Amino acid sequence: MNIIDQPNPADTASRHSVFAGGATSTLDKLNRPLRDLRLSVIDQCNFRCTYCMPRDTFGADYRFLPSSERLSFEQIVKLAKAFALLGVEKIRITGGEPLLRRGLESLIEQLAKLTTASGKPMELALTTNGSLLAAKARSLRDAGLGRVTVSLDAVDDAVFRRMSDVDMPVSRILDGIEAAREVGLAPIKVNAVIERGVNDSQILPLVRLFKGTGVTVRFIEYMDVGGAGGWSNTKVITARETRDIVASAFPLVPVVVHEQMGTAVNYRHADGAGEVGFIASVSQPFCGSCSRARVSADGQLFSCLFATHGTDLRPWLAETASVEQLAGAVRSRWIQRDDRYSELRSTPRRPASGKAYPTVRMSLVGG
Ligand code: GTP
Ligand code: 5AD
Ligand code: SF4
Ligand code: SF4
Repeated sequence: MNIIDQPNPADTASRHSVFAGGATSTLDKLNRPLRDLRLSVIDQCNFRCTYCMPRDTFGADYRFLPSSERLSFEQIVKLAKAFALLGVEKIRITGGEPLLRRGLESLIEQLAKLTTASGKPMELALTTNGSLLAAKARSLRDAGLGRVTVSLDAVDDAVFRRMSDVDMPVSRILDGIEAAREVGLAPIKVNAVIERGVNDSQILPLVRLFKGTGVTVRFIEYMDVGGAGGWSNTKVITARETRDIVASAFPLVPVVVHEQMGTAVNYRHADGAGEVGFIASVSQPFCGSCSRARVSADGQLFSCLFATHGTDLRPWLAETASVEQLAGAVRSRWIQRDDRYSELRSTPRRPASGKAYPTVRMSLVGG
Protein backbone atom coordinates (compact mmCIF):
# COMPACT_ATOMS: atom_id res chain seq x y z
CA MET A 1 0.00 0.00 0.00
CA ASN A 2 1.25 3.47 -0.79
CA ILE A 3 0.20 6.35 1.41
CA ILE A 4 0.96 8.76 -1.40
CA ASP A 5 -2.32 7.58 -2.91
CA GLN A 6 -4.18 8.65 0.19
CA PRO A 7 -5.68 12.12 0.21
CA ASN A 8 -3.97 14.15 2.88
CA PRO A 9 -5.70 17.43 3.60
CA ALA A 10 -2.88 18.67 5.79
CA ASP A 11 -0.36 18.52 3.01
CA THR A 12 -0.49 18.99 -0.71
CA ALA A 13 3.27 19.12 -1.25
CA SER A 14 3.44 15.69 -2.84
CA ARG A 15 6.72 16.54 -4.55
CA HIS A 16 8.30 15.70 -1.20
CA SER A 17 7.43 12.07 -1.61
CA VAL A 18 8.47 9.81 -4.39
CA PHE A 19 7.39 6.32 -5.16
CA ALA A 20 9.86 4.54 -7.36
CA GLY A 21 10.73 0.92 -7.75
CA GLY A 22 8.55 -0.05 -4.82
CA ALA A 23 10.50 2.15 -2.35
CA THR A 24 8.83 5.07 -0.65
CA SER A 25 10.86 8.05 0.42
CA THR A 26 9.58 10.93 2.50
CA LEU A 27 11.92 13.90 2.38
CA ASP A 28 12.23 16.74 4.88
CA LYS A 29 13.05 20.36 4.03
CA LEU A 30 16.75 19.50 3.86
CA ASN A 31 16.01 16.56 1.56
CA ARG A 32 16.66 13.96 4.25
CA PRO A 33 14.59 10.79 3.97
CA LEU A 34 12.81 9.18 6.90
CA ARG A 35 14.63 5.88 7.35
CA ASP A 36 15.07 5.26 11.06
CA LEU A 37 12.48 5.09 13.79
CA ARG A 38 13.53 5.17 17.43
CA LEU A 39 10.66 4.02 19.59
CA SER A 40 10.84 4.61 23.31
CA VAL A 41 8.69 2.12 25.20
CA ILE A 42 9.25 3.46 28.74
CA ASP A 43 10.85 6.58 30.22
CA GLN A 44 12.08 4.89 33.40
CA CYS A 45 15.48 3.39 33.99
CA ASN A 46 17.08 1.39 36.79
CA PHE A 47 20.35 3.33 36.32
CA ARG A 48 21.03 6.96 37.17
CA CYS A 49 23.86 7.72 34.75
CA THR A 50 25.22 11.08 35.80
CA TYR A 51 25.13 12.42 32.22
CA CYS A 52 21.56 11.28 31.51
CA MET A 53 19.43 10.87 34.65
CA PRO A 54 21.36 12.51 37.51
CA ARG A 55 19.88 11.44 40.83
CA ASP A 56 19.41 14.99 42.10
CA THR A 57 16.91 15.58 39.26
CA PHE A 58 15.59 12.05 38.80
CA GLY A 59 15.05 11.28 42.49
CA ALA A 60 12.37 9.31 44.31
CA ASP A 61 9.78 12.05 43.72
CA TYR A 62 10.44 12.44 40.00
CA ARG A 63 7.22 12.05 38.04
CA PHE A 64 7.75 9.54 35.28
CA LEU A 65 4.96 8.78 32.83
CA PRO A 66 2.28 6.74 34.57
CA SER A 67 1.78 3.42 32.80
CA SER A 68 -1.70 4.57 31.76
CA GLU A 69 -0.08 7.26 29.59
CA ARG A 70 2.24 4.89 27.81
CA LEU A 71 1.22 3.73 24.36
CA SER A 72 -0.16 0.23 24.27
CA PHE A 73 1.60 -2.41 22.18
CA GLU A 74 -1.26 -2.18 19.65
CA GLN A 75 -0.60 1.54 19.27
CA ILE A 76 3.15 1.01 18.95
CA VAL A 77 2.62 -1.58 16.22
CA LYS A 78 0.29 0.79 14.42
CA LEU A 79 2.98 3.47 14.62
CA ALA A 80 5.58 1.11 13.24
CA LYS A 81 3.30 0.21 10.32
CA ALA A 82 2.72 3.88 9.55
CA PHE A 83 6.45 4.63 9.59
CA ALA A 84 7.09 1.61 7.38
CA LEU A 85 4.73 3.09 4.80
CA LEU A 86 6.81 6.26 4.87
CA GLY A 87 10.07 4.48 4.10
CA VAL A 88 11.44 3.47 7.51
CA GLU A 89 13.78 0.49 7.27
CA LYS A 90 15.08 0.24 10.80
CA ILE A 91 13.31 0.35 14.14
CA ARG A 92 15.29 0.76 17.33
CA ILE A 93 13.51 0.09 20.60
CA THR A 94 14.75 2.38 23.34
CA GLY A 95 13.79 3.75 26.75
CA GLY A 96 14.79 4.79 29.41
CA GLU A 97 15.58 1.13 29.81
CA PRO A 98 13.31 -0.79 27.42
CA LEU A 99 13.73 -4.14 29.17
CA LEU A 100 11.81 -2.68 32.11
CA ARG A 101 8.66 -2.65 29.98
CA ARG A 102 6.65 -5.69 30.94
CA GLY A 103 5.97 -8.20 28.17
CA LEU A 104 8.31 -6.48 25.71
CA GLU A 105 8.84 -9.80 23.91
CA SER A 106 5.25 -9.83 22.69
CA LEU A 107 5.73 -6.36 21.15
CA ILE A 108 8.94 -7.54 19.50
CA GLU A 109 7.16 -10.56 18.12
CA GLN A 110 4.70 -8.28 16.32
CA LEU A 111 7.31 -5.78 15.12
CA ALA A 112 9.52 -8.56 13.80
CA LYS A 113 6.79 -9.54 11.33
CA LEU A 114 6.77 -6.14 9.64
CA THR A 115 8.23 -5.50 6.24
CA THR A 116 9.50 -2.26 4.76
CA ALA A 117 7.77 -0.41 1.94
CA SER A 118 10.05 -2.18 -0.51
CA GLY A 119 9.19 -5.59 0.92
CA LYS A 120 12.33 -6.31 2.93
CA PRO A 121 12.16 -7.51 6.54
CA MET A 122 12.21 -4.57 8.95
CA GLU A 123 15.55 -4.27 10.78
CA LEU A 124 14.85 -4.50 14.50
CA ALA A 125 17.40 -3.40 17.12
CA LEU A 126 17.28 -2.54 20.81
CA THR A 127 19.38 -0.26 23.00
CA THR A 128 19.79 -1.43 26.59
CA ASN A 129 21.95 -0.83 29.64
CA GLY A 130 22.47 -4.59 29.74
CA SER A 131 21.42 -5.15 33.35
CA LEU A 132 18.54 -7.49 32.42
CA LEU A 133 20.06 -8.89 29.27
CA ALA A 134 21.48 -12.10 30.70
CA ALA A 135 17.97 -13.07 31.78
CA LYS A 136 16.23 -11.92 28.61
CA ALA A 137 18.61 -12.45 25.69
CA ARG A 138 17.13 -15.77 24.65
CA SER A 139 13.49 -14.74 24.85
CA LEU A 140 14.26 -11.54 22.93
CA ARG A 141 16.01 -13.51 20.21
CA ASP A 142 13.17 -16.04 20.09
CA ALA A 143 10.68 -13.18 19.75
CA GLY A 144 12.51 -12.03 16.62
CA LEU A 145 14.81 -9.22 17.81
CA GLY A 146 17.71 -8.76 15.41
CA ARG A 147 20.48 -7.20 17.44
CA VAL A 148 21.31 -5.26 20.60
CA THR A 149 23.43 -2.25 21.45
CA VAL A 150 24.57 -2.14 25.05
CA SER A 151 25.49 1.11 26.81
CA LEU A 152 28.60 0.52 28.91
CA ASP A 153 30.93 3.30 29.98
CA ALA A 154 33.54 1.41 31.98
CA VAL A 155 35.13 -1.96 32.59
CA ASP A 156 36.45 -1.03 36.02
CA ASP A 157 33.81 -1.79 38.63
CA ALA A 158 34.29 1.40 40.66
CA VAL A 159 34.17 3.66 37.60
CA PHE A 160 31.11 1.82 36.29
CA ARG A 161 29.26 2.23 39.59
CA ARG A 162 30.19 5.90 39.84
CA MET A 163 29.07 6.69 36.32
CA SER A 164 25.84 4.70 36.31
CA ASP A 165 25.18 5.50 39.99
CA VAL A 166 23.77 2.06 40.59
CA ASP A 167 24.58 -0.66 43.11
CA MET A 168 25.38 -3.40 40.62
CA PRO A 169 28.64 -5.03 39.59
CA VAL A 170 29.85 -4.37 36.05
CA SER A 171 30.13 -8.14 35.63
CA ARG A 172 26.33 -8.25 35.34
CA ILE A 173 26.47 -6.15 32.17
CA LEU A 174 29.34 -8.22 30.80
CA ASP A 175 27.31 -11.37 31.44
CA GLY A 176 24.44 -9.76 29.54
CA ILE A 177 26.67 -9.03 26.55
CA GLU A 178 27.97 -12.60 26.65
CA ALA A 179 24.43 -13.98 26.72
CA ALA A 180 23.48 -11.82 23.73
CA ARG A 181 26.52 -13.12 21.88
CA GLU A 182 25.66 -16.72 22.69
CA VAL A 183 22.13 -16.45 21.31
CA GLY A 184 23.27 -14.51 18.23
CA LEU A 185 21.76 -11.06 18.82
CA ALA A 186 24.50 -9.77 16.55
CA PRO A 187 26.25 -7.65 15.45
CA ILE A 188 26.53 -6.41 19.04
CA LYS A 189 27.62 -2.83 19.64
CA VAL A 190 28.75 -1.32 22.92
CA ASN A 191 28.21 2.42 23.29
CA ALA A 192 30.44 4.28 25.74
CA VAL A 193 29.91 7.94 26.57
CA ILE A 194 33.27 9.41 27.54
CA GLU A 195 33.41 12.25 30.04
CA ARG A 196 36.73 13.95 30.69
CA GLY A 197 38.13 13.20 34.11
CA VAL A 198 35.41 10.65 34.85
CA ASN A 199 35.92 7.63 32.60
CA ASP A 200 38.59 8.54 30.06
CA SER A 201 40.75 5.98 31.88
CA GLN A 202 38.37 3.35 30.47
CA ILE A 203 38.94 3.96 26.76
CA LEU A 204 41.78 1.48 26.36
CA PRO A 205 40.36 -1.16 28.75
CA LEU A 206 37.09 -1.15 26.79
CA VAL A 207 38.90 -1.62 23.49
CA ARG A 208 41.12 -4.33 24.99
CA LEU A 209 38.19 -6.24 26.46
CA PHE A 210 36.17 -6.44 23.25
CA LYS A 211 38.95 -6.72 20.68
CA GLY A 212 38.58 -9.95 18.78
CA THR A 213 35.15 -10.79 20.24
CA GLY A 214 33.03 -9.51 17.36
CA VAL A 215 31.60 -6.76 19.60
CA THR A 216 32.18 -3.24 18.24
CA VAL A 217 32.87 -0.60 20.89
CA ARG A 218 31.78 2.90 19.90
CA PHE A 219 32.86 5.99 21.82
CA ILE A 220 30.32 8.79 22.04
CA GLU A 221 31.12 12.42 22.70
CA TYR A 222 29.35 13.68 25.82
CA MET A 223 26.42 15.76 24.56
CA ASP A 224 24.45 18.67 25.98
CA VAL A 225 21.16 16.81 25.68
CA GLY A 226 18.22 17.30 28.02
CA GLY A 227 19.03 15.61 31.31
CA ALA A 228 22.75 16.29 31.07
CA GLY A 229 22.57 19.00 33.73
CA GLY A 230 26.27 18.96 34.52
CA TRP A 231 27.38 19.29 30.92
CA SER A 232 30.10 21.71 29.93
CA ASN A 233 32.24 21.62 26.82
CA THR A 234 35.37 21.17 28.93
CA LYS A 235 34.04 17.69 29.76
CA VAL A 236 33.79 16.65 26.12
CA ILE A 237 36.59 14.46 24.81
CA THR A 238 36.38 14.69 21.06
CA ALA A 239 36.19 11.65 18.85
CA ARG A 240 39.54 12.62 17.39
CA GLU A 241 41.16 12.69 20.83
CA THR A 242 39.61 9.34 21.73
CA ARG A 243 40.72 7.86 18.43
CA ASP A 244 44.29 9.04 19.06
CA ILE A 245 44.24 7.41 22.50
CA VAL A 246 43.03 4.13 21.00
CA ALA A 247 45.49 4.32 18.11
CA SER A 248 48.38 4.87 20.53
CA ALA A 249 47.89 1.30 21.77
CA PHE A 250 46.02 -0.44 18.95
CA PRO A 251 46.97 0.27 15.32
CA LEU A 252 43.80 1.32 13.44
CA VAL A 253 42.89 1.46 9.78
CA PRO A 254 39.97 3.65 8.62
CA VAL A 255 36.99 1.77 7.25
CA VAL A 256 36.26 3.38 3.92
CA VAL A 257 32.58 4.12 3.29
CA HIS A 258 30.98 5.78 0.33
CA GLU A 259 29.00 8.16 2.48
CA GLN A 260 28.48 8.43 6.25
CA MET A 261 24.88 7.38 6.80
CA GLY A 262 24.93 6.42 10.46
CA THR A 263 26.27 8.02 13.59
CA ALA A 264 29.68 6.37 13.86
CA VAL A 265 32.91 6.57 11.91
CA ASN A 266 34.52 3.16 12.17
CA TYR A 267 38.12 2.00 12.19
CA ARG A 268 39.28 -1.58 12.11
CA HIS A 269 42.08 -3.13 14.07
CA ALA A 270 45.08 -3.45 11.75
CA ASP A 271 45.42 -7.11 12.78
CA GLY A 272 41.86 -7.84 11.68
CA ALA A 273 40.43 -8.28 15.20
CA GLY A 274 37.27 -6.25 14.64
CA GLU A 275 36.28 -2.61 14.60
CA VAL A 276 36.07 0.42 16.89
CA GLY A 277 33.69 3.33 16.24
CA PHE A 278 33.69 7.02 17.12
CA ILE A 279 30.53 9.11 17.33
CA ALA A 280 31.44 12.79 16.97
CA SER A 281 28.00 14.21 17.72
CA VAL A 282 29.48 17.41 19.18
CA SER A 283 32.68 18.03 17.23
CA GLN A 284 31.61 16.75 13.81
CA PRO A 285 27.83 16.63 13.67
CA PHE A 286 26.08 14.37 11.22
CA CYS A 287 22.81 16.28 10.83
CA GLY A 288 23.24 16.37 7.06
CA SER A 289 22.33 12.69 6.80
CA CYS A 290 20.04 12.46 9.82
CA SER A 291 17.12 10.25 8.89
CA ARG A 292 16.00 9.54 12.46
CA ALA A 293 12.55 10.14 13.93
CA ARG A 294 11.90 9.56 17.60
CA VAL A 295 8.63 8.72 19.30
CA SER A 296 8.37 8.89 23.08
CA ALA A 297 6.55 6.32 25.18
CA ASP A 298 3.50 8.61 25.30
CA GLY A 299 3.27 9.09 21.55
CA GLN A 300 5.06 12.37 20.92
CA LEU A 301 6.98 12.61 17.68
CA PHE A 302 10.36 14.36 17.94
CA SER A 303 12.16 15.37 14.79
CA CYS A 304 15.48 15.93 16.59
CA LEU A 305 17.21 14.67 19.70
CA PHE A 306 17.46 18.30 20.79
CA ALA A 307 13.89 19.29 20.04
CA THR A 308 12.15 21.35 22.71
CA HIS A 309 8.75 19.82 22.05
CA GLY A 310 7.12 17.08 20.05
CA THR A 311 4.04 16.53 17.90
CA ASP A 312 1.29 14.63 19.67
CA LEU A 313 0.40 11.59 17.57
CA ARG A 314 -2.23 10.28 19.97
CA PRO A 315 -5.22 11.62 18.02
CA TRP A 316 -4.13 9.35 15.16
CA LEU A 317 -3.42 6.46 17.49
CA ALA A 318 -7.07 6.24 18.44
CA GLU A 319 -8.93 3.27 16.95
CA THR A 320 -10.96 5.61 14.76
CA ALA A 321 -7.91 6.66 12.73
CA SER A 322 -6.35 4.37 10.13
CA VAL A 323 -2.67 3.53 9.71
CA GLU A 324 -2.71 5.64 6.53
CA GLN A 325 -4.11 8.64 8.38
CA LEU A 326 -1.44 8.25 11.04
CA ALA A 327 1.20 8.06 8.31
CA GLY A 328 -0.25 11.21 6.78
CA ALA A 329 0.13 13.05 10.10
CA VAL A 330 3.74 11.93 10.48
CA ARG A 331 4.48 12.85 6.91
CA SER A 332 3.02 16.34 7.35
CA ARG A 333 5.41 16.90 10.22
CA TRP A 334 8.44 15.32 8.51
CA ILE A 335 8.18 17.43 5.37
CA GLN A 336 8.33 20.53 7.58
CA ARG A 337 11.45 19.30 9.37
CA ASP A 338 14.54 21.48 9.21
CA ASP A 339 16.28 20.51 12.48
CA ARG A 340 20.04 20.41 12.57
CA TYR A 341 20.72 21.32 16.16
CA SER A 342 24.20 19.82 16.41
CA GLU A 343 25.35 21.82 13.44
CA LEU A 344 23.88 24.98 14.96
CA ARG A 345 24.92 24.43 18.56
CA SER A 346 27.59 27.13 18.49
CA THR A 347 24.99 29.79 17.67
CA PRO A 348 23.51 32.20 20.26
CA ARG A 349 20.64 29.77 21.07
CA ARG A 350 22.97 28.45 23.74
CA PRO A 351 22.43 30.12 27.15
CA ALA A 352 25.40 32.20 28.28
CA SER A 353 26.17 29.73 31.08
CA GLY A 354 27.23 27.17 28.50
CA LYS A 355 25.02 24.61 30.25
CA ALA A 356 22.76 22.19 28.45
CA TYR A 357 19.95 23.80 26.49
CA PRO A 358 16.59 22.80 28.02
CA THR A 359 15.61 20.30 25.36
CA VAL A 360 13.52 17.17 25.80
CA ARG A 361 15.15 14.80 28.26
CA MET A 362 17.20 12.04 26.70
CA SER A 363 15.48 9.36 28.77
CA LEU A 364 12.14 10.28 27.19
CA VAL A 365 13.30 10.07 23.57
CA GLY A 366 15.81 7.29 24.05
CA GLY A 367 19.15 8.66 22.89
P1 GTP B 1 23.23 1.59 14.56
O1 GTP B 1 22.17 1.24 13.60
O2 GTP B 1 23.57 0.42 15.40
O3 GTP B 1 24.44 2.22 13.95
O4 GTP B 1 22.57 2.63 15.58
P2 GTP B 1 22.78 4.15 15.84
O5 GTP B 1 24.23 4.48 15.94
O6 GTP B 1 21.95 4.93 14.89
O7 GTP B 1 22.06 4.30 17.24
P3 GTP B 1 22.64 4.31 18.68
O8 GTP B 1 21.49 4.40 19.61
O9 GTP B 1 23.56 3.20 18.90
O10 GTP B 1 23.40 5.70 18.69
C1 GTP B 1 24.54 5.84 19.42
C2 GTP B 1 24.57 7.16 20.11
O11 GTP B 1 24.78 8.20 19.15
C3 GTP B 1 23.31 7.55 20.84
O12 GTP B 1 23.26 7.01 22.12
C4 GTP B 1 23.43 9.04 20.88
O13 GTP B 1 24.29 9.39 21.95
C5 GTP B 1 24.10 9.31 19.56
N1 GTP B 1 23.09 9.61 18.54
C6 GTP B 1 22.28 8.73 17.92
N2 GTP B 1 21.47 9.34 17.08
C7 GTP B 1 21.79 10.64 17.14
C8 GTP B 1 21.31 11.78 16.49
O14 GTP B 1 20.41 11.71 15.66
N3 GTP B 1 21.88 12.96 16.82
C9 GTP B 1 22.87 13.07 17.70
N4 GTP B 1 23.37 14.28 17.93
N5 GTP B 1 23.35 12.00 18.35
C10 GTP B 1 22.82 10.81 18.08
N1 5AD C 1 25.72 12.36 25.76
C1 5AD C 1 25.93 11.32 24.91
N2 5AD C 1 25.22 10.19 24.91
C2 5AD C 1 24.26 10.09 25.83
N3 5AD C 1 23.41 9.08 26.09
C3 5AD C 1 22.61 9.46 27.12
N4 5AD C 1 22.95 10.69 27.53
C4 5AD C 1 23.98 11.10 26.75
C5 5AD C 1 24.76 12.27 26.69
N5 5AD C 1 24.56 13.29 27.54
C6 5AD C 1 23.38 7.82 25.36
C7 5AD C 1 23.89 6.66 26.18
C8 5AD C 1 23.06 5.52 25.72
C9 5AD C 1 21.92 6.09 24.98
C10 5AD C 1 20.61 5.65 25.54
O1 5AD C 1 22.04 7.49 25.06
O2 5AD C 1 25.16 6.30 25.89
O3 5AD C 1 23.80 4.69 24.83
FE1 SF4 D 1 19.48 4.71 31.83
FE2 SF4 D 1 20.72 4.68 29.48
FE3 SF4 D 1 20.13 7.01 30.65
FE4 SF4 D 1 21.99 5.47 31.72
S1 SF4 D 1 22.08 6.43 29.68
S2 SF4 D 1 20.34 6.49 32.84
S3 SF4 D 1 21.23 3.44 31.30
S4 SF4 D 1 18.66 5.51 29.88
FE1 SF4 E 1 19.62 14.58 13.79
FE2 SF4 E 1 19.08 16.55 15.48
FE3 SF4 E 1 21.06 14.81 15.98
FE4 SF4 E 1 21.32 16.62 14.03
S1 SF4 E 1 21.15 17.04 16.22
S2 SF4 E 1 21.87 14.45 13.93
S3 SF4 E 1 19.20 16.71 13.26
S4 SF4 E 1 18.86 14.35 15.87
